[in-house]
Amino acid sequence: MTGVSTVLLAIAYEQEWAAVKSVLSDEYGYRVLIASTAKKALKLTEEANIDLVICEAYLEGKSALNVLQQCRVTCPNAMRILVKEQNGDDKKDHEAAERAAIYQFIRKPIDVEQVGMVVKRALETAELSRRHRLISRELKLNDDSPVFASKPNGRVSADCSNFEKLVYVSEPMAKLCNIAKQAAGTDLPILIQGETGTGKELMARAIHFNSNRTGSPLIVQNCGGISDEMLHSELFGHMRGAFPGAISDRLGLFRAADGGTVFLDEISEISPAFQVSLLRLVQEGEVKPLGSDHVYHCDVRIICASNRRLSEMVSKGEFRQDLYFRLKGFELVVPPLRDRRDDIAVLAEFFTQKYTELTNVKLLGISNNVLERLQHHPYPGNVRELENEIQRMVALASDGEYITSRHMSEEFLAIIPNPALDDTHPNLAIAGDTLKEKVESLEKHLVKEALGRLRWNQSKVAKELGLSRVGLANKIKRYQLANTS
Ligand SMILES: Nc1ncnc2c1ncn2[C@@H]1O[C@H](COP(=O)(O)OP(=O)(O)OP(=O)(O)O)[C@@H](O)[C@H]1O
Ligand SMILES: [Mg+2]
Repeated sequence: MTGVSTVLLAIAYEQEWAAVKSVLSDEYGYRVLIASTAKKALKLTEEANIDLVICEAYLEGKSALNVLQQCRVTCPNAMRILVKEQNGDDKKDHEAAERAAIYQFIRKPIDVEQVGMVVKRALETAELSRRHRLISRELKLNDDSPVFASKPNGRVSADCSNFEKLVYVSEPMAKLCNIAKQAAGTDLPILIQGETGTGKELMARAIHFNSNRTGSPLIVQNCGGISDEMLHSELFGHMRGAFPGAISDRLGLFRAADGGTVFLDEISEISPAFQVSLLRLVQEGEVKPLGSDHVYHCDVRIICASNRRLSEMVSKGEFRQDLYFRLKGFELVVPPLRDRRDDIAVLAEFFTQKYTELTNVKLLGISNNVLERLQHHPYPGNVRELENEIQRMVALASDGEYITSRHMSEEFLAIIPNPALDDTHPNLAIAGDTLKEKVESLEKHLVKEALGRLRWNQSKVAKELGLSRVGLANKIKRYQLANTS
């Protein structure tokens, strides 16, 4: 993954870091994001693709080490640097830093040159370990290990791309993200359509963080399941007394986000009256709070998302055509996961890494069988469904194991793309009377089946069955198995 590196500064006082910020941006060309509270910092790690986090030990007078710990889940590849107070509690800091697996300490007072150097080195280390991961994967693939070995073209792509938090490798997503990156550079409204769980919100956030509005807020409002009056008051604001319960003036999100981006989710759900108000905002930048005669101006970029096709709603007379045309300055349609199956393997790997990171469990990877099943699932819930399945499997797997069909949910097990791969319901008559004989009969069958399928490549078979090569050779001898092909 290439491009400008993003550094997140989770710091109490921005002035104290002004020199660091300008040195990083000017000399090294990094993108620098700033958060002054733990909550804001965590939100940024969930929304933007962060390469390095510099976090002060205390924010708002409280320990902020949970930010670094949480980063292990929200941005597992980001390097983590802790800034210690001059007279901080070293023992406590060390323990917490251990849990957060930080890369380095920096101690106050801040030495700008030292920070620049540490950041540079940390990012070099990150790049080296990224390359190492890629090479290891390549080697594993050449060795035709169980992981990814069953991809139709025999290998997974050497690298995957990302647009902030969106991970992809498929052609349709590459094309879409290229358009989205271009759209981000303009100020036009953007309409993102696609089925549930395809990544529409992630796309909206990526666009905001790649626009020139990054330094201003991104505000998200879901337009579904909320009354018209409430929605109006949330977004456009209201004056005290505008309706029963309006006990004080409210600014409204559009004005609060002035200079930034407002993401309106489930835009298909807004009422005809709200459509008129929104049209006025998009056309003229005008905001009229409920109960006010005054019209305010604000400069926000609107990004909308919808599961329903707005064009169809327009033709049925359910959505204003003029508003639809205004909203789709750019129209991005995120394809369902079943139409971009190339993304499944990289997403599965990405989510496995994400969920193993926190638990400290070292997994060997995803078995062939599981990957095959993942690739054939219909995914009505799209990427969200894949993510949930991986999260569940990682939770069930133990240290040193591959994720296998044993860890899969019933729903995914129901998909059996290739009966030869079905290791859950072996459809065979088990010979023998005693338990020992039955177990041996089953074992013989499984070893024979794996040998046949993997063309007697004993190192592959041993790996797949979790045996040593000697262990496998003993079983071949014991069951008098022979290569007849
Ligand atoms: N390409 C991707 N790379 C990494 N994670 C993804 C990708 N696409 C989706 N996800 C993850 O899948 C989940 C659903 O994504 P998101 O909320 O953006 O979907 P959505 O289209 O807005 O869904 P809905 O229509 O239900 O609101 C999130 O956890 C998100 O992080
Ligand atoms: Mg959404």
